[in-house]
This record gives sequence, C-alpha cells and structure tokens, in this order.
Amino acid sequence: MNTFYFDSNEIHDKTQLATLFEFHGSDKGSSQKGTNHPSGWPYHHYAPIYSLFLDSIRASVTRFLEVGIGTTSSNFPSSMGQNGTPGASLRGWRAYFPNAEIIGLDVDPDSLFTEERIQTYCVDQTEPESIADFFKANSENPFDVIVDDGLHREHAAEIFFKNSFQYLKPGGYYFIEDAGWLEPGQETFLNHISDPVSLFLPREMKSGLDYWDKLIVINKRGNF
Ligand SMILES: C[S@@+](CC[C@H](N)C(=O)[O-])C[C@H]1O[C@@H](n2cnc3c(N)ncnc32)[C@H](O)[C@@H]1O
Repeated sequence: MNTFYFDSNEIHDKTQLATLFEFHGSDKGSSQKGTNHPSGWPYHHYAPIYSLFLDSIRASVTRFLEVGIGTTSSNFPSSMGQNGTPGASLRGWRAYFPNAEIIGLDVDPDSLFTEERIQTYCVDQTEPESIADFFKANSENPFDVIVDDGLHREHAAEIFFKNSFQYLKPGGYYFIEDAGWLEPGQETFLNHISDPVSLFLPREMKSGLDYWDKLIVINKRGNF
C-alpha cells in the first residue's frame, strides 16, 4: 500500500468538485479554507484526491455507485446529523459526471429518493445477501467508480468490498472514505488485494475528527 500525507491546515481546495460538494451540502470537501460543514464538524479533504484520479475520466464515467446516501435520523450509525442534507454527495457527483447514472445505497429506507440520473436502493453493507440482491438486479453493466461512504467500520468496508469489487470495470476506481479504523502499516483485508491500493491521510492528527479524514483508493487493474 502506498501512503500519502497531506497537511489539513494548508490545503486550500480550488477544485470544481469541492465547490460542487459544498454547494450540494456534502462534507467531502469545501473551497473555503478552515470552515465547518453545517453539521458542525470540519469538512473532509477528499475533493482534491478524487479530482486527481477522476478529472481525466470524468466524461467517460457512465455508471457510478456510492454506499451512504445520507440520513438525518439518529437511529442509524454514521448519520449526517440534524443539519445534514441527505442525497448531497449523489447530487454533487451527478453534476461532476455529466454522462453518468448515479446509484446510491443506504440502510435507512427513508433516505431513498429518485431524481434525474439518480436511483437509490435500500442495502445493508454488512449483509452479503442484501448486497447480492442489489447486484442481482443491477449488474447488467459494470460500474466505473464505487465509493464507500457508509458505516465507516472495518468489517463493513471489507464486506462491501468483497461483495462489490467484481462489479467494478477493469481500470475503475474504488474509494473507501473515513477510514479512521486504518493505521498505516496495519494488517487488514487491504493487504490481500492484488490491485494497487493507496491511503491518503493528514500528516498530523490534530483532533479526533482529523482521525477520520482518511481515504483509501483501489485502482482495479486493467484499462479504463
Ligand atoms: C455520512 S452519511 C453519507 C453522506 C453522503 N455520502 C454525503 O457525502 O452527502 C453515511 C450514511 O451511511 C448509512 N449507513 C450506515 N450504516 C450502513 C449500512 N450498514 N449499510 C448501508 N448504509 C449504511 C447511514 O444511514 C448514512 O446515511
């Protein structure tokens, strides 16, 4: 695994993707340095990393999948909190990928919605059968990009990866956000992946929230 460090105090994100996330209400990135998301916690620094990998294939992406639509309900772990905007990142991704069908999955049935180029389904990422049911009905074309912004626990990341990676196109990208559970050098399921894996994280952990500002990128072998 390659590990890359960034300085969260220094990043000033001028990517278009950061502006789109911020506009639609996702905490994945912000163009305003040092501001907090409406939920009250600092923004993540994922937009420049996503841009690094995805800007060049933006127009070619036709199938995009994200686990974690977003809920404001406190009954579900990894809730966005009362001031969150469910569906925020799906709308940001839709604006970013002009030719893509955007599919979102969440364990909270009340988070589901349908809009132009956005479809959502109720799936529990910790249940292989629930994931298999989704792919049974949605595997006619492989996905170009898969993002895991769901439960943010190692077992959940592993189960979803093992049951979805086969549906990613060769050359496609698989991202796991908020990997607070992963320490550089730690033995996890990621050590057993033969495709290139990278970890992006803050150079210095300044608060408990920084700890979650970690993004894993897996680039499936093959040509996009
Ligand atoms: C941080 S929110 C997603 C935010 C959204 N992606 C955004 O950036 O706007 C995480 C979501 O994961 C969902 N979640 C929690 N556990 C899950 C599970 N086992 N399977 C699927 N989704 C889960 C929660 O219901 C919540 O809506």
